[in-house]
Amino acid sequence: PRVAILAGGLSHEREVSVRSGRRVAGVLRDEGLEVEVLDVDAALLPRLAEMRPDVVWPLVHGSTGEDGSLQNLLELVGVPFVGSRATACRLASNKPVAKALLHQAGLPTPAHAALPQSMFREVGARTVLDVVARDLGLPLAVKPAAGGSALGVTVVEEVDRLPDAMVGCFAYGDVALLERAVSGVEVAVSVIDVEGEPRALPAVEIVTDGPYDYDARYNPGRSEYFVPARLDAAQTATVHELAVAVHRTLGLRHLSRTDIILDADGVAWFLDVNVAPGMTETSLFPQAAHADERTLADIYLAIVRAASR
Ligand code: DAL
Repeated sequence: PRVAILAGGLSHEREVSVRSGRRVAGVLRDEGLEVEVLDVDAALLPRLAEMRPDVVWPLVHGSTGEDGSLQNLLELVGVPFVGSRATACRLASNKPVAKALLHQAGLPTPAHAALPQSMFREVGARTVLDVVARDLGLPLAVKPAAGGSALGVTVVEEVDRLPDAMVGCFAYGDVALLERAVSGVEVAVSVIDVEGEPRALPAVEIVTDGPYDYDARYNPGRSEYFVPARLDAAQTATVHELAVAVHRTLGLRHLSRTDIILDADGVAWFLDVNVAPGMTETSLFPQAAHADERTLADIYLAIVRAASR
């Protein structure tokens, strides 16, 4: 099939997306597929009309790439595409919404508050932050409600540090998620859902000597990865089951990646899910695929085939 990969776009993760797009295109071309990488700009629709791809693979990370906007456009145009449908993307990419839905489904996720920037103008920052810190306790992870690659994320140990963290967070979006920071083993579990039931790929364990921030994610050598994660059979089953349950509960399609903390009591906590997980050389989905019984190329081909149906 002829595949159009959509990469770039206008999000803060543009650079990551371009790298993801190139990697996936390289793998698919090596398998003999005809692949074009298109940027997401005003020329997108004419270029798609001209190319007439059999399938589109949206690989734009963050904001409109993962919040369902791009997927909505593809649904309107009527072209088959890889990944979750617009409605599921909208729910999954909004962290407070995804956490609330998964909590209702009985899946563990750290307690949180979602704070729009407008609330601070109305009530006063100090009051809001004091109440949230009292309710949730410290340390707190402060994150933009949408977006990825840890941009705008700070873990705060003292209430006095919260205002600065909020400023950093609001630079990336209008809603902040304040979440009780859980300590434990950080793992990412990718799920593929291409033939029959969704299946977890081997869990990837992430070890950093500081926060797993943008630099630690994309500069080779800054983080250490263990694939499969150094977990026993029961722990492995727990994190795999959580990722598959997240994928099913949010109605995701073809692929996803769930980021998890496994605490000392063996509880796996949902942190967030990515509907367009990174595919760069240091990204977690390809690392998981390399440790699977199938090859990365075979997995990408199966995803393209499933999306073309
Ligand atoms: N948001 C980046 C691309 C990731 O989670 O892989």
